[in-house]
Amino acid sequence: MNVLIVGGGGREHALARTFAESPEVDTVYAAPGNAGMKQTAVCIDVNEEDAGSLTAFAAEHDIGLTVVGPEAPLLKGVVNAFQEAGLTVFGPTKEAAAIEGSKSFAKAFMERHCIPTGTYKVTSDYDEAIRHVDNEGVPIVIKADGLAAGKGVTVAFTKEEADAALRDILLDDKFGEAGASVVLEEYLEGEELSLMAFVHGTTVVPMVGAQDHKRAFDGDQGPNTGGMGAYSPVPQFDDSDVERAVRDVLQPAADGLAEEGRPFTGILYAGLMMTMDGPKVVEFNARFGDPEAQVVLPRLDSDLASVMTELMDGGRPSLTWSSDAVLGVVAASKGYPGSYDKGVPITDVPDADLLFFAGAGEENGTYVTAGGRVLLLAEKAATLQEAQTAVYGKLKGLDTTNLFYRTDIGRNVIKD
Ligand code: AMP
Ligand code: GLY
Repeated sequence: MNVLIVGGGGREHALARTFAESPEVDTVYAAPGNAGMKQTAVCIDVNEEDAGSLTAFAAEHDIGLTVVGPEAPLLKGVVNAFQEAGLTVFGPTKEAAAIEGSKSFAKAFMERHCIPTGTYKVTSDYDEAIRHVDNEGVPIVIKADGLAAGKGVTVAFTKEEADAALRDILLDDKFGEAGASVVLEEYLEGEELSLMAFVHGTTVVPMVGAQDHKRAFDGDQGPNTGGMGAYSPVPQFDDSDVERAVRDVLQPAADGLAEEGRPFTGILYAGLMMTMDGPKVVEFNARFGDPEAQVVLPRLDSDLASVMTELMDGGRPSLTWSSDAVLGVVAASKGYPGSYDKGVPITDVPDADLLFFAGAGEENGTYVTAGGRVLLLAEKAATLQEAQTAVYGKLKGLDTTNLFYRTDIGRNVIKD
């Protein structure tokens, strides 16, 4: 079987690597992929949102399975187009992906289905938003309603920070259409857990958990990013915590989407705050997390293509996982998540089995930066501590003239 992966980030590189190892898979294609994943997949020059060209390519190249990595093509309806063309695709329709695409939809959906989450208010009016902040007090969380690549969220600890975030979104249109309205959300306290599941209709098959580090700098300082590093497993939580999160969050979400006539197929991701009152949803995503995929997929011993196919055929695949730990650290362009230079050389990249490229292009045979998050280096080892030591040992070799990385991924679990 040939597999087509839509997207070109680190998550897609990890998907490509996983499929490339499968005895079920002949050729892995990526649209558009990136310069750093050319050894793993045949990269084709097709935009990830160009549904017409993607379906034409799949039909012409005997693609038995297409997997859509990022949220933007999902919300554009790429899966709908594949379904209409009678092609096998693992991912949600744009109707089902609304659980990620609109935070206000997600909040109202959770309310309808009694899925635990923080209290909230949606508004597009700056004065009303300010009044809400005055009434509720700080800390309070402010989110652009639509897609903002993980950057539209501010956890405001002062009224000034809240005001600045509301001005950016509602008055200065910093997030364009995505910031036409804001969601003001109760601040939740606890430890975070990213829990993803393979979902087809009401069948939910959970994966092992992961923890992401969203802030740009060490010690969880600085602005929110798409994610600066992750690890799996998350020893702070045991099987019963995960079972509770599946029962209270992932299963009712899948059931609710099916009940509302937008059944979900694909990867459902719950970003959870594990509070004193149990798990509460911070966000839903309609796809693998990035960088969570890069640390979870290397632990999957089951065959990914078979898991997806069996699920779509109506089965309930059982998953086997490596007991090893994986920890990965992102190297990003200096300036990210703000503005940064593109086209600067990426040199002295360490050798690693789990090296996933994202914003990487190629000029005259050398890698150059092409995005904010440039690469993720992960190591798999018997313990998180060993994986962490190995990752940071290797990253010492990376030329950081134009790149930076956090030096404390996993520190919250590893006391040294
Ligand atoms: P999101 O893009 O919604 O996942 O938010 C990005 C990050 O902001 C999360 O991973 C949390 O660290 C933080 N965050 C979001 N919502 C809340 C909340 N209600 N309470 C506390 N922290 C939050
Ligand atoms: N790492 C969080 C996300 O993929 O949205």
